[in-house]
Amino acid sequence: MKIGQLVAQTRTVRRFQQERPVDEAFLHGLIDLARLSGCARNAQALQFIPVCAASLCAQIFPHLAWAGYLTDWKGPESGERPPAYILCLVNEHWHKGPDTEIYCDVGIATQSMLLAAAASGIFGCRIGAFSPALHGQLRLAANHRIVLVVALGYPAEEVVLEELRAGGDIRYWRDTAGVHHVPKRPLQDVLLLPSDPA
Ligand SMILES: Cc1cc2nc3c(=O)[nH]c(=O)nc-3n(C[C@H](O)[C@H](O)[C@H](O)COP(=O)(O)O)c2cc1C
Repeated sequence: MKIGQLVAQTRTVRRFQQERPVDEAFLHGLIDLARLSGCARNAQALQFIPVCAASLCAQIFPHLAWAGYLTDWKGPESGERPPAYILCLVNEHWHKGPDTEIYCDVGIATQSMLLAAAASGIFGCRIGAFSPALHGQLRLAANHRIVLVVALGYPAEEVVLEELRAGGDIRYWRDTAGVHHVPKRPLQDVLLLPSDPA
């Protein structure tokens, strides 16, 4: 698949085939790609916990907030919950710079993982809205701070891109057939040309 197609297909998915497992070795492969991704100062201050045991997934799920724009949807029902996660942690012993660097790093690392996963038919959702109690729930060490949770699995929903019209709404929405629509600004709206030198 061409890289442009892969980027366009790598959409956020929030409903999964819960009973279709994601192999732990597959998660290790994704983390190996995160490891190779660019990061500020080459500090490599991120660490990743792969989760595919159903009991652990069940402990993580209540700590996550889903799709804030879909106000009449509380998140995936039983049977469509993620069968796997990758928790992205910063190791404070390795992290010396400002937090802006970590947030860039985790974006790059998770994009590497989500692109590779999508190429294998597995999709995901980054969750920044997780409860601080997740740290204690998972008995993580004091030097570990969760910065992002990535839910993963085989999709149980269709997601389509649509072009955001002038004055349109950036909020994603779901139609009556359950298809999830993601409006994106057209190229001419995000492409800024450099101004002529005086
Ligand atoms: C840093 C970050 C945090 C996010 N946090 C959440 C979240 O807490 N819950 C959620 O349902 N989606 C979350 N998302 C997914 C976004 O809502 C999603 O990327 C956006 O709607 C655009 O859809 P797309 O990824 O298919 O382009 C997050 C995405 C990013 C990049």
